[in-house]
Amino acid sequence: MRPLRSMLFVPADSDRKLDKAHGSRADALILDLEDAVAPSRKAVARTAAAAYLQAHATSSGPLMYVRINPLDSGLALLDLAEVVVGGLAGIMLPKTSSAADVLRLGHCLDALEARAGIAAGHVRVVPVATETAAAMLSMGSFIGGTPRLAGITWGAEDLSTAIGAISNRDADGKLSPLYELAASMCLCAAAAASVPAIDTLYANFRDSEGLATSCAQSRRRGFRGRIAIHPDQVDTINEAFTPNEQELEHARRVVAAFANQPDAGTVGIDGLMYDIPHLKQARQTLGLAD
Ligand code: COA
Ligand code: MG
Repeated sequence: MRPLRSMLFVPADSDRKLDKAHGSRADALILDLEDAVAPSRKAVARTAAAAYLQAHATSSGPLMYVRINPLDSGLALLDLAEVVVGGLAGIMLPKTSSAADVLRLGHCLDALEARAGIAAGHVRVVPVATETAAAMLSMGSFIGGTPRLAGITWGAEDLSTAIGAISNRDADGKLSPLYELAASMCLCAAAAASVPAIDTLYANFRDSEGLATSCAQSRRRGFRGRIAIHPDQVDTINEAFTPNEQELEHARRVVAAFANQPDAGTVGIDGLMYDIPHLKQARQTLGLAD
C-alpha cells in the first residue's frame, strides 16, 4: 500500500485550488465535499470532483480521496453516486460513528464499483473517528480492522461542537484533555486495526516552524502521517513522517546487534539496554523508509 504521510484537503468547488493541487507532492489529495463547501455549492463541488478524478485517473500524481458528506446527512449517497469513478483511491468518511459505518459505506462501494467497472474492493476508506460523542465511545469497534480500511484520522473541531464546548483549547492555549484523548484513541484504534494513524490538521498554515515541531511530536507519538490544509504544509509534513538518516542508522545498529546475538533477548548499545520491543521498533522504522 502506498504511504499516507500527507493528505492535502482541497475544497472541490474551487477550480483554482484543484488546479494548484495537481502538482502537489502530497501522498494524497482529499477533494472535499463536506465542511469546506457551502450548502449552496455542494452540487457544483460533487460534479467538479468527479470530473477531476476522471481527468487525472491515469496520472502518477497523488492518490485521490474524496471526503463525502456524513452518512446521515442526506447527501452521502448523492456524493458517492457521482464520485465513484476511475481515479478514485478512497473515501474519507467524516463523523463516523463506529466501524459499522465503514462497513455500511463498504456495501455502497461494492455496488458502485461494479457499476463503474472498478475492481471490487479497490476504493479504500479513511474514517474520521472522533467527531461525535458516540464515536468517542465506540472506538473499540475498530479492533481487528474492517475491509477497505486504509487509515484512521481524528478531528477536534466537530467534537467540541458536539460536546457543546466553547473551545477545544484551555485558557493556556493547550488542547483540552478530551481532544488529547481523541488523538490517543485514534492511535490505539489504528494500531488495533493494523492501519496507519493520520494526525489531524495544523490550522496556522503560515507557521511552518510550528508545524514541523508539532509533526515531530506527532510522529514520536505514533502517527504515520498528517492532514494538510494548504499546499505549503506538504513538504514539511512529508519530511517529518519520513525517517531521517540518523534514525535509520540507529535502527540498523539495533537490528544488527540482535542479528549478531541470535539467542539474546536483550543487548547493550552505547551503554543502553535494548530488548525485543526496541528491535520491533527498529524494524518498523526501516519499514517506513522502504
Ligand atoms: N489546495 C490547493 N490549493 C490551495 C489550497 C489547498 N488546500 N489552499 C490554498 N491554495 C492555493 C490558493 O488558491 C492560492 O493559489 P492561487 O494564487 O493560484 O489562487 C495559493 O494556494 C496560495 O494560497 P493562500 O493565499 O496562501 O491561501 P488562501 O488564503 O487562498 O487560502 C485557505 C487559505 C485556508 C482558505 C485554503 O488554504 C483552503 O481552502 N484550505 C483547505 C481548507 C479545507 O479544505 N478544509 C477542510 C478540512 S478541515
Ligand atoms: Mg468538520
